[in-house]
Amino acid sequence: MARVTLGGGLRPPSDGRHPTSSGSSLPPPGSRSARAEPALGAPIIRLGAVDSTQTHAATRAANGAADGTAVVAETQTAGKGRRGRVWHDIPGASLLMSLVVRSSLPVAQLPLLSIAAGVAVAEALSAIGVREPRLKWPNDVLVDGRKIAGVLLERHGDAVILGIGVNLDARAIPAELRAQATCVAEAGGGPDRDALLAGVLDAFARWRGRLEGEGFEPVRERWTSLADTLGKRVSVDGIVGIAEALDVDGALLVATERGPSRVLAGDVVAG
Ligand code: BTN
Repeated sequence: MARVTLGGGLRPPSDGRHPTSSGSSLPPPGSRSARAEPALGAPIIRLGAVDSTQTHAATRAANGAADGTAVVAETQTAGKGRRGRVWHDIPGASLLMSLVVRSSLPVAQLPLLSIAAGVAVAEALSAIGVREPRLKWPNDVLVDGRKIAGVLLERHGDAVILGIGVNLDARAIPAELRAQATCVAEAGGGPDRDALLAGVLDAFARWRGRLEGEGFEPVRERWTSLADTLGKRVSVDGIVGIAEALDVDGALLVATERGPSRVLAGDVVAG
């Protein structure tokens, strides 16, 4: 059986690409229409129900979608989480988006885009009033230790599809996950989904630009300043110790009883 992961926020729109905070709500669930908005940069494609925005964005990418194309849906019937999990949602209760990224980074560094995305989501949530979003390695966003947003990076050909899911209100959280998850409404954030979308797009464009232009160090420093994981005793796929740092390649450095260990992938739990 598939494990269920959690379905899951600012600035006002700053350019013609971003959705307006007053108007463009998503179409109703089940709507089959997709509309591409005129954009300063790449389009925002708004869908009603879709299997997964990841799959939809990957198809668009294969058909030549421009770098930065954003696919946003009201609900997903087969939402994908990290490590093969299912991403649960209730129509309208989450921000569900996937970005087509055609990066100039070397292939080996593409996973760093997901770290940059985590930073961007945390900053965007903060900008709409969410209290102290923090990052759990590699890219979960937490508030008070409970997950509010997740990031999924997939490679399709020469494109990266970066998926972001944010819990907007409590309906997005299945009953059995209430203790582990929170949402924008509970964490002090404003209800405007389009403002959050605009904030995520702005912040990701900024951090991605720095990553590609200056290298990982600025992203690593910002991630570290927002980290929930560091300094804690953790267990990650059998490695137990104190999480000490985000390494220069995005690995988690853990101080174990047998010495330092580098974790490249996995789920962090309290150790
Ligand atoms: C995680 O497991 O934390 C990552 C979750 C990513 C979910 C988002 S929702 C929008 C996009 N479409 C998907 O199917 N998954 C991502």
